[in-house]
Amino acid sequence: MPTTDWLKKEFDYGYDSGNVLGLLPNKIRRSEEQRIGGSYRRVFKRAILPFLKSDSVVMELGPGNGAWSRAILKHLPHGKLITVDYQDVTQWLDPDKYDGRLDCHQVADNSFSCVDDGTVDFFWSMGVLCHNNRTHIGEILQNALPKLKPNGYACHQYANWDKLDRYGWRRGGVPSEFRKMQDDEIWWPRNSQAEMVSLSMKAGWKVIKPDLGLLRRDSIIQLRNA
Ligand SMILES: C[S@@+](CC[C@H](N)C(=O)[O-])C[C@H]1O[C@@H](n2cnc3c(N)ncnc32)[C@H](O)[C@@H]1O
Repeated sequence: MPTTDWLKKEFDYGYDSGNVLGLLPNKIRRSEEQRIGGSYRRVFKRAILPFLKSDSVVMELGPGNGAWSRAILKHLPHGKLITVDYQDVTQWLDPDKYDGRLDCHQVADNSFSCVDDGTVDFFWSMGVLCHNNRTHIGEILQNALPKLKPNGYACHQYANWDKLDRYGWRRGGVPSEFRKMQDDEIWWPRNSQAEMVSLSMKAGWKVIKPDLGLLRRDSIIQLRNA
């Protein structure tokens, strides 16, 4: 299932995570937060905000409907957000509303060839690597790294089956039958903290924290362009 063809088709409706910055979560965000075991507002404050300056260039992989993109753009009055997605996200995020601060790229592979080398301060994704298998994650991490400025940072949510075992598959909204199935048959392919650290280092990133500890079901890794 987490083949490139499946990923390209599955999210064509524009996946939405709700009002990530709101003090009170709306219905969409509340149900997601129950499954993921954490607060999106807290994730934004701990995993994104510390890496943003008003003029930062941020690259976001897989914005979908743009819940996180809109929140990031609020904090980039003089910067830029570059989004990279298999979908044409301009259906949900209108670049004309942002005075040249939003560039949306619809892509067909994990090459990141649409982004100039050495231009990105911070690379972010939520709900993306958890649907990509380890081969794809390796490609993403390797091809994205040259886009970062020296000492640029990245934070990415990823699936962590060890945490999922502890948190509970039913509570986490992931079918427990997946445990008996192959990665190419399921939409939550196997991953762990150790695998993610190894893939990141192999791709040339310095691992700052393998898990920021903000989510009970999943992990968020913090990386730096070494
Ligand atoms: C589950 S949605 C998450 C949307 C948004 N980040 C959020 O959390 O609300 C995953 C999005 O990532 C995109 N995506 C997944 N893997 C991708 C890849 N390797 N390259 C580009 N886009 C990808 C999908 O097309 C989809 O829009």
